[in-house]
Amino acid sequence: MNDHPFSLAGQTVLVVGASSGIGAATSALANRLGARVILSSRSADALAKVQAELDHPAEADVVAFDYRDVEAVRLALSPFERIDHVVIPAVADENKKRGAFLELDDATMRASFDKFWGQVNVLRAAVPKMPAGGSATLFASIAGLKPTGKDAGLSVMNGVQAAVIQTGRSLAVELAPVRVNVIAPGVVLTNVWNDVERANLADWMERTLPARRAGLPEDLAKAAVSLIANPYVTGAVLTVDGGLHLV
Ligand SMILES: NC(=O)c1ccc[n+]([C@@H]2O[C@H](COP(=O)([O-])OP(=O)(O)OC[C@H]3O[C@@H](n4cnc5c(N)ncnc54)[C@H](OP(=O)(O)O)[C@@H]3O)[C@@H](O)[C@H]2O)c1
Repeated sequence: MNDHPFSLAGQTVLVVGASSGIGAATSALANRLGARVILSSRSADALAKVQAELDHPAEADVVAFDYRDVEAVRLALSPFERIDHVVIPAVADENKKRGAFLELDDATMRASFDKFWGQVNVLRAAVPKMPAGGSATLFASIAGLKPTGKDAGLSVMNGVQAAVIQTGRSLAVELAPVRVNVIAPGVVLTNVWNDVERANLADWMERTLPARRAGLPEDLAKAAVSLIANPYVTGAVLTVDGGLHLV
């Protein structure tokens, strides 16, 4: 494994949002490629299930915290002396935060920014533990580059995704030589969608996207690992969307 071009042997990778979807797939792939993974989300039970499915479960730690709670994040990461890479695909209830701009209640609209502040909280706790050439991979959405239509009810959420993108690019300069990259996923078949939505979206993607296929968590995991493993990539905004940004 050590001579594999994407080997992560000897590296520690913190994944926040590891209990589901893109985070679970990224944890599994990083672990398969030799990394010790720190699996994190709010649910220790769900993380333990992900750990049990890893190729090398002994090469994993489970650390439960809510990334919105800055003190909880700091406390949870304090035992770790060195973290080489951090990947932060955590998000909650994104679809429940949809609503018409003039009608959405204030609290829900403001909670759209939980995803932004959660990633900030994790970075501020983890970066001091990261070596030169270590990396942070933030998660936005293709909607941060190409706003969704007027009926999607995501006007503020699209701004959150753009905020993640520009903060990530800024941090690639400010935090150097730690690297910072941003992934902008298109539609991915994860638990953010229910069964019916997943089936409908898969059908739509197969018909519409230039890639003519549905996006899977494993596709995003490959993108995240490629950013971690390539020491020449920083400040990148990587669209992984089957070409959605073009259609
Ligand atoms: N799926 C898509 O179609 C799509 C499209 C565009 C962008 N994205 C972006 O891709 C990223 C990953 O999405 P996904 O589809 O993989 O989501 P997912 O399957 O719903 O997974 C979200 C993860 O975040 C964790 N989480 C939620 N709230 C948290 C909190 N307060 N603190 C810590 N962890 C928390 C969840 O675990 P717990 O519940 O255990 O905390 C879970 O592990 C997100 O940034 C999302 O916006 C996804």
